[in-house]
Amino acid sequence: MYNTILTLHSLCRWLVLASLVIAIIRAWTGWIGGQAFTKRDNLLRHVTATVAHIQLALGLALYFISPVIDYFLHHYKEAVHMRQIRFFGMEHSLMMLVAIILITIGSSVAKRKTSDKAKFKTIAIWYTIGLVVILVNIPWPFSPLVARPWLRFGGI
Ligand code: HEM
Repeated sequence: MYNTILTLHSLCRWLVLASLVIAIIRAWTGWIGGQAFTKRDNLLRHVTATVAHIQLALGLALYFISPVIDYFLHHYKEAVHMRQIRFFGMEHSLMMLVAIILITIGSSVAKRKTSDKAKFKTIAIWYTIGLVVILVNIPWPFSPLVARPWLRFGGI
């Protein structure tokens, strides 16, 4: 169970990143180019936020079953000084939650805006900030302190 969710969470990161990059490029070009906000743009806004919510659900599930988090919560005093454990117990989980909240706000505020320009602008700004927070908090294989693989296939 743990391996399966960890694998899904690792793979889902690529869906999160791909949908965000596409939605952001579309939002900036639509905003700067003064284009019409179409049904497809609205679908892209919605799908991007939904993929982020699926990743949030997987992350929350991991938080309850991960041995890393179990150690963090049950040995807090020592674990808070252990870089790898603290990263997943605090920084990663909290900052990713913040990023997904930013994306959710951006999506729902954009939905309520009446002009096409305001819709593109809202998505462009909120999703871009969300993406930056996500990129900084992913444990990349090249991250000096907490490195995890590009892809994980074990467990499914
Ligand atoms: C866009 C949001 C997120 C992205 C892109 C993301 C990405 C990742 C990646 C790439 C890993 C390493 C997977 C591996 O070892 O192969 C990971 C691990 C983990 N993530 Fe996330 N994550 C996100 C959100 C969250 C959230 C919101 C939570 C918790 C509330 C969370 C909890 C965890 C935990 C607990 C682990 C590691 C567990 C372990 O090694 O046992 N993640 N995440």
